[in-house]
Amino acid sequence: MSFLKLFRRKPLGTILQQGGDGEHSGLNKVLNVKDLTFFGIAAIIGGGTFSAIGNACFSGGPGVVLLYVICAIACGFTAMCYAEFASRVPVSGSAYTYAYVSFGEIFAWIIGWALLMEYSIGNIYIAFSWSGYFTNLLETFGIHLPEWLTINYQSAHDALLDNKAGEGLTAWQNAPMIGSLRIIFDLPAVLINVIITYLVYKGTKESKNISNAMVYIKLAIIALVIIVGAFYIDINNWTPFMPNGFSGVMGGVSAVFFAYIGFDAVSTLAEESKNPQRDLPRGMIYSLVVCTVVYIILALVITGMVSYSLLGVSDPLAEIFALKGVKWMLFIVSIAAVVAMTSVMLVFQMGQPRIWMTMSRDGLMPKKFSAIHPKYKTPGFATLVTGLVVGIPIFFTDENFVLDFTSIGTLFAFVLVCGGVLMLSPQSEAEIAERATKGKFRIPYINSKFIFPLIVIASAAIINYTLPTFFAETLTLADGKLTANITMVIFFILCIVMSFLAFFKNLSLIPLLGLISCCYLLTGMAVSNWKWFGIWLVIGLVFYFCYGFKKSHLNFTPLKDTIED
Ligand code: ALA
Repeated sequence: MSFLKLFRRKPLGTILQQGGDGEHSGLNKVLNVKDLTFFGIAAIIGGGTFSAIGNACFSGGPGVVLLYVICAIACGFTAMCYAEFASRVPVSGSAYTYAYVSFGEIFAWIIGWALLMEYSIGNIYIAFSWSGYFTNLLETFGIHLPEWLTINYQSAHDALLDNKAGEGLTAWQNAPMIGSLRIIFDLPAVLINVIITYLVYKGTKESKNISNAMVYIKLAIIALVIIVGAFYIDINNWTPFMPNGFSGVMGGVSAVFFAYIGFDAVSTLAEESKNPQRDLPRGMIYSLVVCTVVYIILALVITGMVSYSLLGVSDPLAEIFALKGVKWMLFIVSIAAVVAMTSVMLVFQMGQPRIWMTMSRDGLMPKKFSAIHPKYKTPGFATLVTGLVVGIPIFFTDENFVLDFTSIGTLFAFVLVCGGVLMLSPQSEAEIAERATKGKFRIPYINSKFIFPLIVIASAAIINYTLPTFFAETLTLADGKLTANITMVIFFILCIVMSFLAFFKNLSLIPLLGLISCCYLLTGMAVSNWKWFGIWLVIGLVFYFCYGFKKSHLNFTPLKDTIED
């Protein structure tokens, strides 16, 4: 009996009573489809576009464009799954709530725990990137911050170990000391986190207006980057297209995927939307489409402007114009980057407390996390804790670690969301018709019975034809190669298993393709990322068994289908 409690599922009626109908939540319902689309764009275009894209291009060359397409496909399918859930379960909590309804409590907890990586840990990366561009901006005004105030401790320490001349080593050598401890931290990153926490604490309406204004500025300046950059394209830079092969392209997976993260943040605003079932799906899909187009064009422009080998820097969009001697663009790009990343942080910092708020309402987190501020109508305590969760690690982590960590955690959450949609019960004709009349989103059902196995067989045949040694190399047992390729081997097995399930269970094609494409992206993660992710999950489970499992508000519900519309 106790074991089954892990899989207790939350009835939708209870969810709606807790706030989905808008009457009980206490939050302001002010957001329409335009606001939600803008929130999506605000969350998507940020550190991935202005910072991480550099290392992705450096690793993959111009071929990184393929990775942008692959990630867009994976995110597009996943967005449709989010949209299906958002239309059925119109409350805050994002994938966490969806998992609670479809999989059961333990999966909901795991997803909530993984989302912490997306929202809070992701914001750490963005704060570091923000600081890089902000420091550039200050330099253009002749203001120079000492190195020990613009770099994180870990990076400075690594520079010392590698004896690598540059900002890190200078910071280490010049840092003031308290006893034997060197004072090295990224001051702008800390400050931006404090400002964002304050804005979010004060309320959605103010944050919404700022966020909308930032999106306009951001899109206008990116358009300018593309237009000006286009004049400097030299098509010779596009060959070789994949200088480090396809594995080089896949080496950029964390960075490229990170650039797409954010469309799902829209779903955390369900309780502040005027018509969540109609507008959330639209907001997510529209924002993803806009960003995909922007990314593909931007990647083509920057890899066309200079050799990929010059792009391995943390401020690549400034670097390309510096290399071309277009000084005035340097200033504009730095402003755009600062604005873009501020808006991303704002949206993520709004998302995290809302997930905790929902988890707290369920008893899986302490009650304080769902307390709504009487004046500002925001989850005040949870917002402050988010500020600390983002702010404290800024003092002792480095950006590459948090980038990988964010991407693996988010991909994992996406896999569970797509899996969740596969497990949803089909709706009756009457329910489908009712959803259509009210303009609610519904994922089109396409039977994967033959299509999916055919896609798998055709993909295998194409790979075998174009890369004849691929399968043999991946499956080689010698020299620990299988260990290195273990994620790919698991992926092959998953494809075979899902082909059988598709055939025998007539699974819906779109969520199935979402699941498989996200799993494919996971194969690009290094073994060390998996190790850290595993440790993170274990810590989360310990938390759950010590607290949430006992305090959960759900009485035991038998394993029956609890989805209703
Ligand atoms: N997609 C967001 C960014 O690139 C997380 O900053």
